[in-house]
Amino acid sequence: MRQTGSDMSIVINNMTFSYSDEGPTDAPVIIFIHGFPLNKSMWSGQRETLRNECRIITYDVRGHGNSEAGDKEFSIDLFAHDLIDLLNALDIGKAVVAGLSMGGYIALNAIINYPGRFEALILCDTNCIADTAETKEKRFNAISDIMENGMEDYMNESIRNLFAAESLASRPDEIMAVRQMISNTSEITLFDTLRALASRNETCSRLTNIEVPVLILVGEEDVIAPPSAARQMHDKIRDCRLHIIKHAGHLSNMDNPYDFNDQILNFVRAVCPNSLTQ
Ligand code: MLT
Repeated sequence: MRQTGSDMSIVINNMTFSYSDEGPTDAPVIIFIHGFPLNKSMWSGQRETLRNECRIITYDVRGHGNSEAGDKEFSIDLFAHDLIDLLNALDIGKAVVAGLSMGGYIALNAIINYPGRFEALILCDTNCIADTAETKEKRFNAISDIMENGMEDYMNESIRNLFAAESLASRPDEIMAVRQMISNTSEITLFDTLRALASRNETCSRLTNIEVPVLILVGEEDVIAPPSAARQMHDKIRDCRLHIIKHAGHLSNMDNPYDFNDQILNFVRAVCPNSLTQ
């Protein structure tokens, strides 16, 4: 029997995952995967609006938010496997999978390895390339800096890069929420995930194999996964829409939730056979 609620636990392979599951049972299922080093609460602006029309699932990637870390070495492969285990545990055959940044890396890995579980794919502020040598070095430097000096500088730099410039002044609640998500992430999860991100494989060469409809959303001012990266993915995917979100940076769902949610609803209405408006 389906359990509904906003902060629930489920045990999968002896590990507790935290998740939310809301909205009508017979509606299209959208499962949202958060970015790094955040957690499922980054999707509160989507849950509140989209659950009127869709079944919305959010969850904390292992080690993040309220999900346990387990004892396996973190990797994007492992995170993608967890996604499929969660779908199995919730008895969901196919879903629309939406991932932002690290969530997008996980979704892309999952669609390559488990294409039959996808009704459609939504890629937000993400990229298909592997880390460059420079990006890897930055991640390893971040680990040593945090070990030596603590989190404050890392947190401040992250906030500057995550939001659009205008949001830094106009969205204090969102900034506070993200600050809290980062400071609630344990150092061990930060380090293990930074290593997992640095060692992930590229997925660009597999984009031509994607057979389901894809929506790509990207903040116009995203400095981490910029519109140029979104265009490159768009050009390789057969059935793909691209939308650039104005007044938005890397966390385009928090910078401009109105446009972000509208785009998702329009896409789901168009591509999901069980959309409530069809
Ligand atoms: C994220 O938002 O998930 C991160 O920026 C991903 C990354 O560091 O590559």
